[in-house]
Amino acid sequence: MQQILITGGAGYIGSHTAVALVNAGYEPIIVDNFSNSNKEVLNGLEKILGAPVKYHEGDCNDRKFMQAVFEENDLQGVIHFAASKAVGESTKIPLTYYSNNINSLIILLETMKQFGVKDIVFSSSCTVYGQPDKLPVKETTPRKDAESPYGNTKKICEDILTDHVKSGAPARVVALRYFNPIGAHPSSLIGELPLGVPANLIPFVTQTGAGIREKITVFGDDYNTPDGTCIRDYIHVMDLADAHVKSIQYLADQPENFIDLFNVGTGNGNTVMEVIKAFEKVSEKPLNYEIGPRRSGDIEKVWANTDKVSKVLGWTPQFGLEEALRDAWNWQLSLKK
Ligand code: NAD
Ligand code: WQD
Repeated sequence: MQQILITGGAGYIGSHTAVALVNAGYEPIIVDNFSNSNKEVLNGLEKILGAPVKYHEGDCNDRKFMQAVFEENDLQGVIHFAASKAVGESTKIPLTYYSNNINSLIILLETMKQFGVKDIVFSSSCTVYGQPDKLPVKETTPRKDAESPYGNTKKICEDILTDHVKSGAPARVVALRYFNPIGAHPSSLIGELPLGVPANLIPFVTQTGAGIREKITVFGDDYNTPDGTCIRDYIHVMDLADAHVKSIQYLADQPENFIDLFNVGTGNGNTVMEVIKAFEKVSEKPLNYEIGPRRSGDIEKVWANTDKVSKVLGWTPQFGLEEALRDAWNWQLSLKK
């Protein structure tokens, strides 16, 4: 069975991707330092999969640790999720973000080369587009100046991968620019576990629905959108996980020096108010919200053109907004129990 290393595999998207990999016949090997996740996730994975997922606890910035992981396993490829990802936090501790997100990629690429492992799927983000001039946004849409140190680390990592392949290194790379991942595995055994006050919309919505938060503030209703609130492309995390499996399968058929890049979203945009109304329908009760001022750094509207990912990877989203909100809500309710 082909082994795929998942760095940050105990995290939100990594853990869901571990399930998708097993379902596709791969053996995931998790590396995580549990800086933004906990080992409870591994128990959830074992319950879903009926067997434990092998993991190594350690830091991707620890070269000796990473060499030992590659030594011990027979890896076919790597999916690199491990990074610090909070936009707001990155403006407060930029050096931590540059160090963690960039050094970990460099050490990973050097270790892959040392052990003859060619295939890597990299977690990028639609944040590299900033506020696109034209929508829906295509992979050829020019990237803009990053809105945060976090967004800049994603642009820099994309450039590192491009230059690494341009140098002729034996590397086969896919970068996936995620839009807004939401939801949870339908079993409610794994899901999004934000530490502290959620920065992202959906966990804040579900925590408000569950009475953990008193109310949610809608950050601005004076944007140039149908109802004045921002538009995003919300994609079910299991659909996103599937895009990673298809990327690994795609790389297996490519020449040994190769790079490609895909937007991964649903191709549809929804406003914040549409999300709130859809959640009220799913939870069958009103959500306590108020309209507040805009959040600095927010872009007005972005959603993906998904022609390339569907044509080249044969990937299309299987879940819509309501199903993702239902899975997010069921996960939240399971946490209360
Ligand atoms: P997450 O924080 O849930 O998962 C990241 C995991 O990586 C965590 O378990 C954390 O403990 C681990 N980690 C961080 N630094 C590490 C290190 N140096 N060594 C070992 N483990 C380390 O985040 P997520 O939402 O699953 O995001 C995964 C990836 O996708 C990140 O690269 C993120 O930037 C990217 N991304 C996320 C979103 C989103 O909205 N969630 C959107 C676009 C891109
Ligand atoms: C979505 C919408 C808010 C909370 C961020 C990062 C991006 C990626 C995904 C890592 C926005 C509104 C939110 C709230 C609100 N992360 N909102 N009240 O900002 O699109 O993207 O997460 O790669 O890089 O920028 O996601 O969930 O924070 O916000 O009104 O309490 O919900 O204004 O319009 P965002 P989000």
